[in-house]
Amino acid sequence: MPEIALTQAAAHVRHGSNIGQPLTRRDGVLKVTGAARYAADNNPPGMLYAVLAVSSIARGRVTFLDVKAAKGHPGVVEVMTPANRPPLAQDPDERSSPFMFRLDLLQSDRVRYANQPIAVVIAQTLEAATEGAALLSPRYDAEPARIGLDATESFVPPAIGVGNPPEVQRGDVEAGFAAASKQIEATYETAPQYHNAMEPHAIVSAWDGDTLSVDTPSQGLAWAQARLAGLFGISPDRIHIRSPFLGGGFGSKGLISGPQVLGIMAARMVGKPVKLVLRREQMFGPVGHRSPTRQTLRIGVDNDGKLTALDHRTRTTSSTFDDFFEPASDASHTLYASTAIATLHEAVRVDTGTPCFMRAPGEATGSIALESAIDEMAHVCGMDPLAFRLKNYAEVEPISGKPFSSKALRECYAQGAARFGWESRPLAPRQMRDHDGLLVGWGIGTATFPALMFEGHAKAVLRQDGSGVMEIGAQDMGQGAWTALPQIAADSLGLDIGQVEFRSGTSDLPDAGVAGGSAHTATAGMAIHNAGADVITKLADLATNDNRSPLFGAGNAGVVARGGRLFRRDDESRGESYSDILARAGLPQIEGHGTGAGNQVAQSTYAMHAHGAVFAEVKVDPDLGQMRVTRVVGAFAAGRIINPRLVRSQLCGGMIWGVSFALYEHAVMDARSGRPMNPNLAEYHIPVNADVPSVEAILVEERDPHVNALGIKGVGEIGVTGSAGAVANAVWHATGIRLRKFPITLDRLLEPQS
Ligand code: MOS
Repeated sequence: MPEIALTQAAAHVRHGSNIGQPLTRRDGVLKVTGAARYAADNNPPGMLYAVLAVSSIARGRVTFLDVKAAKGHPGVVEVMTPANRPPLAQDPDERSSPFMFRLDLLQSDRVRYANQPIAVVIAQTLEAATEGAALLSPRYDAEPARIGLDATESFVPPAIGVGNPPEVQRGDVEAGFAAASKQIEATYETAPQYHNAMEPHAIVSAWDGDTLSVDTPSQGLAWAQARLAGLFGISPDRIHIRSPFLGGGFGSKGLISGPQVLGIMAARMVGKPVKLVLRREQMFGPVGHRSPTRQTLRIGVDNDGKLTALDHRTRTTSSTFDDFFEPASDASHTLYASTAIATLHEAVRVDTGTPCFMRAPGEATGSIALESAIDEMAHVCGMDPLAFRLKNYAEVEPISGKPFSSKALRECYAQGAARFGWESRPLAPRQMRDHDGLLVGWGIGTATFPALMFEGHAKAVLRQDGSGVMEIGAQDMGQGAWTALPQIAADSLGLDIGQVEFRSGTSDLPDAGVAGGSAHTATAGMAIHNAGADVITKLADLATNDNRSPLFGAGNAGVVARGGRLFRRDDESRGESYSDILARAGLPQIEGHGTGAGNQVAQSTYAMHAHGAVFAEVKVDPDLGQMRVTRVVGAFAAGRIINPRLVRSQLCGGMIWGVSFALYEHAVMDARSGRPMNPNLAEYHIPVNADVPSVEAILVEERDPHVNALGIKGVGEIGVTGSAGAVANAVWHATGIRLRKFPITLDRLLEPQS
């Protein structure tokens, strides 16, 4: 592994012995043996159980709750309703930042969506709390629910995603269409999806006076701590959050949710520790979702097959009381080099919970439409869809004009196509059959996701016994932070990974920034890297200023840290161990600090994205319409890969979600009642092993010196992008039928109009 140029840290740390190794998860044995303690595994003495009662209507008022009946249950201790819930220091309907959502904390009898919490029953046992909640028998004053993309009048929201402009134009799109020799217009729809992490939102809370301790899954410990501090009117340092393991998050654990806060309020009310765990169906409402979209794309090309105009309009939904707007059209900002690009978002307000970030928000929904439309345009041009993409992919970011820091996308197309065998693909649809007579189709989709960074901090310690400690309040929702971050820590300290104690997952450690936006390894990794460099710098200063050290006066020659020793860079025979340096200085340990954050100069100069190309094969029964994905190959360039095993796992997981997006996942909302009709994993379909026989992720080598000193981009979300389009394009290639409503199901294939 070559040494890298360090732009943000001292120049005497050498990387390579731990970074880049395909280590298995260091927490794997804990997890498979059940020893890993998830939030709901905690049972402090005297703990009570809380169960939510949720609304069965989507809009109206709760007019009656039979609190008396619930309290009459022998196990029930307390029933929390709007009438008696503890006061809060902040109105839950107040919102002061895009990273804060309005919460339903029993502030009134108003119902704004189905499955909204309307009461909390606290009891000696889970069974008693569940029975107590059933005894509440709520009565409602119901108003008609407004559900779906046409439910109310549309408007252009002031901002989409997290503070993006709703409307963007570059160049003159109408002039672009006027100059086009061919053009298409097509409308696509994507279905609502609910984050269905294996672990539902869960919380165990305990108050000790004005000190709060909670066990709850969180993708963002510092944000959660700050939000709770505001709501309960206490200082953040009185709030201790433990979140060592998350059973998935996908964005819905990025901000603390209403039900989690209700668990804390319940504990305050009864003065005892309280556990609250959402049931699966309760996940379909108060903890976010991906809103449906309707996207219209118009594309124009000239005689040479080059894009002259790209117009991408999205309609989406948000709740009646808060703002999150899926930024789907923004997917058209970064991929294809159209002379002119216009994007627009509009929204309608509906009676659902507030949507939020869900794995690749915007890029996932937007790329499904964009990649389908690009495929349709290629077909109109009579071109192979890969050749069409190679002709049109952007070498500078189209919307900003900033250069990409690499041209790795071409390599992704080449390596993916070679591995998949794309070369032998017939141009026309419905040309391939397997030996059972099933129609076979091959499709491609381009993947892209921005290389983001938040801000994070870490503390590093070297001890006189030669071991190291790295402290950072990072979050592992399954992606492998417990493994990848210690790999970076070990290299930053010049130690083997086994010599570094890695402390993480609690709010009293330095803020690592949120595990979201595919930015965690870059952000937390750079904080760790810089903390390690800081402590090594201090150690080197001790040695090079001490005339008893063989490193005395190393000066401009510099010092290298490796294997628990410092060496002169120009003469590796001259050096000494960390232990010797600290012992001679009489120090039991030495400590350093580091921050990880994006470089603003680099960010304003370069466009920063990870890229990929996904190839999919599907087989379709020509009579029954049954579809199966039989092969997916994705090639991805995402900067420096810290742990290829974990990265492949992330990318394959993302591509499987792409398959799910294309063929399975669909929260069905009843338009009359406003209720989700399939709030369970039996009817809310996601692909199981039998649905996805072979998925392969190729890691394309990429050295990007601009994103950060370690060259890390993200891999958490990019796998979802492009892959759904690849599957849809493969279905078209198999059948000649273009379906534009997702998920593509066999009824829609047999009756494309439906
Ligand atoms: Mo993600 S949707 O940034 O957890």
